[in-house]
Order: sequence, then C-alpha cells, then structure tokens
Amino acid sequence: MEEISPGLENVYIKYTELTFIDGQKGIMRYRGYDINELAEKSSFEKVSYLMLFGKFPDDSELKNFQNKINSHLALDDYLKDILRAMPETSDSLGILQTLLSAKASKESNYKYTKENDGEKIPEILGSVLSMVANIYRLKSGNNIIDPEPGESYAETFLKACSGSADKNKISAMDSALILYMDHEIPASTTAALVTASTLSDMYSSLASAIAALRGPLHGGAAEGAYRQFLEIGEPENVNAWFENNILNGKRRLVGFGHRVYRTYDPRLKTFKKYADILSTTEEQKKILAIAKRLEEAGVKAFGSKGIYTNTDFYAGMVFNAIGFPVDMFTTLFGLSRISGILAHITEYVETQERLIRPRAIYRGSGERKYPE
Ligand code: ACO
Repeated sequence: MEEISPGLENVYIKYTELTFIDGQKGIMRYRGYDINELAEKSSFEKVSYLMLFGKFPDDSELKNFQNKINSHLALDDYLKDILRAMPETSDSLGILQTLLSAKASKESNYKYTKENDGEKIPEILGSVLSMVANIYRLKSGNNIIDPEPGESYAETFLKACSGSADKNKISAMDSALILYMDHEIPASTTAALVTASTLSDMYSSLASAIAALRGPLHGGAAEGAYRQFLEIGEPENVNAWFENNILNGKRRLVGFGHRVYRTYDPRLKTFKKYADILSTTEEQKKILAIAKRLEEAGVKAFGSKGIYTNTDFYAGMVFNAIGFPVDMFTTLFGLSRISGILAHITEYVETQERLIRPRAIYRGSGERKYPE
C-alpha cells in the first residue's frame, strides 16, 4: 500500500557533494571543510567559489570572480523604479522577492549550461548584493545607489548599506554570510530545486526560494527569536515567561529545534561568539542576558527530547549589533543563501536533472454525477 511521508521527512531527492550534516553529532561541513573553521578563516567569496566550482580559488581566480561580481553592482534602472514604487509598509523580504521576479521577467530565455552558469552566477551575486543594500537604504530613508566595490563582498555590502563599517562588523557579516550560505536542502532550497527542475530560469528559482524562506518555521526564525527576547523585556522575566508561554502555553520556543539536528546546531558557536563580541550597548547586553537565560531554560526542558538551540537563536542579535533592524534579518539570511542555492541548482541540473513531481494519494469521493 502507498504511504505518504508528511513534510517529506527522510525523503532524499538528490545526491550532493556540497554540504554534509550529522544531526546527531552536530557536525556541518561544506565540501568536507568544517563550517566554523571556514567562518573563522575564509571569506564569503572564497567559500562561494568552493561551493560553486568545487575548489578554493587561487589568487587570480579569486580576483577574476570578485571583478565579475563587482561589475554587476549597478542596479538596473527598472529595478530602481520598482524599489521606489514599493509601498512604505512593504517588508524587506517581500521587496527582494519582487526584484528577483522582475529580473526573471527579463531573463526568461536563460538556459542552464556549465559555461552560461559560470558567467551568470557572479552576476547574480553582484546584483542581489545591490538589491539588498538598496532595500535597506530605502527602508532607512536613504537614496538608492550603485554600490562601490570594497575589499570583500561583506565590506562592499556593509559600506553600500551605511557608508562605513568597522573591522569587527565586517568580519561578523562575512562569517554570517558563510554560516548561512547552505544547509543541504531545507524548504527554501527545495522550493528553488522544484522550480529549477522545470528548467525555469535562475532568478525565478531564487524568487521561489525567498518565498519559502519567509515563514517563521524557517528563515523567519531569527526575527521570531529576537522578537521573543524583546517581548520578555528583562532577564528576570525569563523563567515566568517560559513557564507561561512555552511550558504551559501553546507556543514554541523560537530558535529551538530542528528537523535534522538532535543536538546543538554547529553554526551556533560562531554566532554566539559574535553576539558576545558585538553586544556592547546596555540594550544589547540585556538582550544577550535574556537569550542566555532562555537558552538555559530551553535546554533544561527540551534537551532530553533532542530539541536544542538552533542557529537563529543568536543570529538576530549579531545582525542587530552590526546595525540592522529586525525587518532585515530574514533578508540577510536570503542574501547569504543565494550562492548555496545556486550551487544546488547547478549540481542538480548539470548532473541529476529530473522534473520534481511527487504524487498525492487520493482520498476524496468516488465518481459522482454532475448535479442537474
Ligand atoms: N519549542 C517547543 N517544542 C518544540 C519545538 C520548539 N521550538 N520544536 C519542536 N518541538 C516539539 C513539538 O512540539 C513536537 O512535540 P510532540 O511530539 O510532543 O508533539 C516535537 O518537538 C516534534 O516537533 P515537529 O514540529 O514535528 O518537528 P519538526 O522536525 O517539524 O520541527 C521545527 C522542526 C519546525 C524547526 C521546530 O523545531 C520548530 O517549530 N522550531 C521553532 C522555529 C524555529 O526555530 N525554526 C528555525 C529552524 S532552523 C532554520 O530554518 C534556519
């Protein structure tokens, strides 16, 4: 008898050489390299290149890759017009989805091939940097610009957002971009793969991914976790809030639990490090103290069920300390995830292409006569 697998749990749809996850031991690697080591020692561009092309770039390959990205930082005029036309109340992730869809409408003839992808991917990375930086600028009341290339992708992005950025913030942003770059095939990457499997274009596939990223069970969790800390308000409120809302209420602790991990999310280590380094104002220190107490309560209550802290618990705090408002958190996650999604799309389309078309088991009524 046929059975369904709710949530596609334990269903495998592709082979991958990109990301390895051991959910029991809390290990995550990109192409064999430990995720925290990459976040500490490498850069977004180098790791993107590694993911996309299978090896670290040498100096000239890196320069060439950076130059290609930088040559696509200028935002198309029609995208600037769309940005200006968006209502003030639009959320930043929705604007990103809109811009990606607008790009798709201009790129619908794009065909995947190894040669095309090598040119198209840096173009997308440059273009999405500019989209996200300008979304932030627009929402903070600033003019739309064509970003100037900096030393690194992280620096270019932060300087495009607010004109300047100190070393710690650039390094935290670079690490966040690396840590969020890929996570095998969660809902957003799967949505992109479904779209790409129809041989749709890359921008449409990315727009699908961004739509799936939005929800609080996925990309929206960093925002949800941070709002949770704001709601708690003071460190001494943590235990009563936890008891009323989580233990005796119907709410889930946001930033906890994961479909794959039965232990701590390995990415947490680096996010927690930057939350400690960058939380310098009284408000940031208070939020950090709330988070630490809440994490303790959560692990005590749920650890025995294999529910531990996930990466989103501390990520929002890091984005906030870099200078971003809560509304930008999921969009920053989206920016980070673009090269991972593109790596999965090219891996799938180039080596295992097959239309993704699952089935549903029909349980409705038998044949009926149309009412006269
Ligand atoms: N708080 C309280 N209980 C939880 C939590 C949580 N955060 N997560 C899971 N549980 C409990 C469920 O209530 C359920 O308990 P039950 O068996 O007694 O009914 C059990 O654990 C299994 O939960 P499921 O939802 O079936 O497990 P699933 O694998 O679908 O959950 C998910 C994964 C959706 C991420 C879940 O842990 C959750 O809702 N977490 C909160 C949101 C969050 O932090 N999302 C970010 C994920 S990471 C990312 O996308 C980058």
